[in-house]
Amino acid sequence: MKEVARLSALRSLLAPLKREGKRIGFVPTMGFLHDGHLELVRRAKADCDVVVVSIFVNAEQFGPTEDFAQYPRDLERDSRLLREVGADVLFAPPQEEMYPAPTQTYVEVPALAARLIGKLRPIFFRGVATVVTKLFNMVQPDRAYFGEKDYQQLLVIKQMVADLAMPVEIMSVPTVREPDGLAMSSRNAYLNPQERQAATILYRSLMEARQWLASEALSPHELEQRLRAKIEAEPLAKIDMIAICNAETMEPAQNSLPQRTFIFVYVQFGPAKLLDHTIVEAHERKGATA
Ligand code: PAJ
Repeated sequence: MKEVARLSALRSLLAPLKREGKRIGFVPTMGFLHDGHLELVRRAKADCDVVVVSIFVNAEQFGPTEDFAQYPRDLERDSRLLREVGADVLFAPPQEEMYPAPTQTYVEVPALAARLIGKLRPIFFRGVATVVTKLFNMVQPDRAYFGEKDYQQLLVIKQMVADLAMPVEIMSVPTVREPDGLAMSSRNAYLNPQERQAATILYRSLMEARQWLASEALSPHELEQRLRAKIEAEPLAKIDMIAICNAETMEPAQNSLPQRTFIFVYVQFGPAKLLDHTIVEAHERKGATA
């Protein structure tokens, strides 16, 4: 695996490969890699000739009171894991390489970005869309891989790529979980053992919500109330948001559940804000009209 920090080095490495017609797969990350990230790399390896992974903790997507400074970093370990899984190129630019001067150009997907996480983190999706555009311009991949764990982010990226006719195919990969169901996340590193145990309530409550919907016709409000009560019963959980939405538009469900119902939980355990979701299809719930 080649490790590069500079854009000029990345371009001279990739140019001959592109000329040879090699298919480039790209996995953008903020590092502190876990098996969720590595699964994206494995998928890219299975589909592409060359796999490029980027590691860059993007200040533009963190609000002033958020965890940019504390965000976990371990480039040496990340590099070893990427070698083991067979990545070809690690692009880990320093801050001044990505943003030599403060950016004056932003990419925004306002309707999607105003919903859910965007309500709590108003600049987050603008920061993500802008840095991903920039990384796409740097790597010029044929395919780029994103996790379904960050489902709203995946929708924002797909919308951006469609709207701006970016020549890249967006591939999505299902959420990789710990054996007890907790979605893998770099932020799980913030949890102490009690919080780590408490955090399993996210997956457990989402799975229970699926069972409720399979056996009863609930309104969005009833579903939300039950989910809230279930999570509130865990003393270490502090709920930031529970939402029942349309899985395509992220619009909140009003009187009835949408065909594809997106159930979203965003909950704080100690210092870590964790998110998870499940999507319930119409045929998976009782009382749904086809
Ligand atoms: P990061 O949180 O490091 O995640 C990088 C990629 O890994 C994202 O596509 C994310 O959805 C995916 N991922 C994270 N946890 C996962 C899991 N448990 N299972 C499957 N995939 C998972 O998301 C970002 O970085 C940034 O916003 C970025 C897109 C790099 C822009 O800065």
